[in-house]
Amino acid sequence: MGLLDKHGAIERHATLLLVLSFLVVSIGGIVQIVPLFYLDNTIEEVEGMRPYAPLEIAGREIYRREGCYVCHSQMVRPMRDEVERYGHYSLAAESMYDHPFQWGSKRTGPDLARVGGRYSDDWHVQHMIKPQSVVPESIMPAYGFLMNRELDRADAEKAQDIMGVYRMLGHPYTDEMMDAAVDDFFAQVDQFGDPVADRYPGAQQRNFDGQDALTEMDAVIAYLQMLGTLVDFETFVPDASR
Ligand code: HEC
Repeated sequence: MGLLDKHGAIERHATLLLVLSFLVVSIGGIVQIVPLFYLDNTIEEVEGMRPYAPLEIAGREIYRREGCYVCHSQMVRPMRDEVERYGHYSLAAESMYDHPFQWGSKRTGPDLARVGGRYSDDWHVQHMIKPQSVVPESIMPAYGFLMNRELDRADAEKAQDIMGVYRMLGHPYTDEMMDAAVDDFFAQVDQFGDPVADRYPGAQQRNFDGQDALTEMDAVIAYLQMLGTLVDFETFVPDASR
């Protein structure tokens, strides 16, 4: 009975009960959560995933700046209706180079995690200038002004700076990638330029918006067209043991 009597003391002191409960819950939390930071298999390695190319980073920054994530999610959930509509459910590894992630919390428009390659560049240009011209019932705002906003060397250097930060966070950017970043930024809209795909496998390289100038529209479309295209789901086999 001695031990149970002592428990009475805890039950009569609200503060003591609170402190001890907190202690017990913390231990449970630490045991469950901390190993996840150290286990290599928290995120499975999936073939094809690579960090973003410089122009794609610029496009992604514009996507964030314009708040596209307010209406668009980038995560296909593993439910039948979603998989049938959007394709294979999203893998954790597909967001491993996203800081911050763009999963979103609301779908006013469709999920964009796998929009890459679904439409032509021309469709995107048309859709961004006047969404209703291709989807009459659309309530998406127009972003035609992106066509007039040219990107220059300073923007390329900004993308390079962001790569530097990502590198600190552990993204596998090599010295070669860092040195070539500014050139790659411009090369990606020039199909005769130095192949960006040498450093970023699967990178698409062409004039995305059809104008001579390199604009924010090019960057956004370069980003949209690569979304969900890196992992080849014809050959991907999920590892159930993870
Ligand atoms: C106010 C909400 C809203 C915002 C903000 C918004 N969209 Fe949309 N978007 C929609 C809606 C609704 C649709 C579906 C109708 C259509 O295709 O226009 C859509 C469709 C799309 C599609 C076609 C997707 C598909 O699978 O058919 C793309 C691509 C797209 N949006 C990109 C963007 C980008 C890039 C931005 C930011 C620059 C953006 N959207 C901002 C509402 C929004």
